[in-house]
Amino acid sequence: MQSLSNVLASSSLPTSLQNVLTTTTQTCIDISSTLKKGSLAGILGMAGNENVQGEEQKKLDVISNDMLKDALLALPEVRAIASEEEDDIVPAHTDGEYLIAFDPLDGSSNIDINSMVGTIFSIYSKKGDKPATEADFLISGNQQVAAGYVLYGPSTMLVFSTGNGVAMYTLDVDKSEFILTQASVTLAKEAQEFALNMSNQRFWSDNMQNYARDLIAGKEGPRQKNFNMRWVAAMVGDVHRILCRGGIFIYPWDKKDPTKPGKLRLMYEANPMAMLIEQSGGKAYTHTHRILDIQPTGIHQRVAVILGAANEVDKCLSY
Ligand code: F6P
Ligand code: MN
Repeated sequence: MQSLSNVLASSSLPTSLQNVLTTTTQTCIDISSTLKKGSLAGILGMAGNENVQGEEQKKLDVISNDMLKDALLALPEVRAIASEEEDDIVPAHTDGEYLIAFDPLDGSSNIDINSMVGTIFSIYSKKGDKPATEADFLISGNQQVAAGYVLYGPSTMLVFSTGNGVAMYTLDVDKSEFILTQASVTLAKEAQEFALNMSNQRFWSDNMQNYARDLIAGKEGPRQKNFNMRWVAAMVGDVHRILCRGGIFIYPWDKKDPTKPGKLRLMYEANPMAMLIEQSGGKAYTHTHRILDIQPTGIHQRVAVILGAANEVDKCLSY
């Protein structure tokens, strides 16, 4: 049973990237301990602010954000961070090499029902000789040098990729370290399960409505196959299930707000998850483009997301 520190030390990754990964994941272990205290620590409920997306911040959104922000800004290798909970990027060290974008607590509405949440991160290597600006972050996802998430569930798990497959680690709470529990993740090409918030069906494009109608029609419909549905309401939980046992996850564009191309954020939700899905043999698209090819225009940009089993993503796009 190899620990994360052993795996990193014996890898060919630059020490600087190892340090960023170590700090990020160690901070997630601290977030995990904080989450475990729940109501006893007085940390549930609202913080009383809105983030840049106009969403109300939970106390734990703010606490997790501050923990990651403080830890990463202190690291000399870090050039800047971008977070769901920060309006603007936060520059760190001008001579730092790495840009890190993160969603400190994905699915935070699950917190109050003691259900799954996670931290999602995306890392780029981008040197410069001036303090970082937002423009530095506007790099397509296929340039990520590492991406992953920590899932705070019944056990705490780290899943990440440095561009050479996807590995899963489980937190040994007694030793406070991640232990490699699955060295390589392979995603089946066919799906048996879909994750889609069906309550939004009437707002989707006709094509997306037709696709969902055919999924639900099961064996008697044109797909001639029964599908099961699951919705964790935390992308990190749905993507984790897909990496474990397959399926497709979709958060489509909808006409509730036609100015928004989707709900999920490109830089710290769609891109890191797209890297993991592709690295395990799946596909990740918007309605029209491969997610990792998108040239970002802003750090909080939203996109439609269709990801998971390769053949099922193709099927969905064929509508
Ligand atoms: O971060 C946005 C998010 O919470 C995702 O984690 C999740 O997949 C989605 O929103 C849930 O959306 P809904 O509120 O439609 O269930
Ligand atoms: Mn999120």
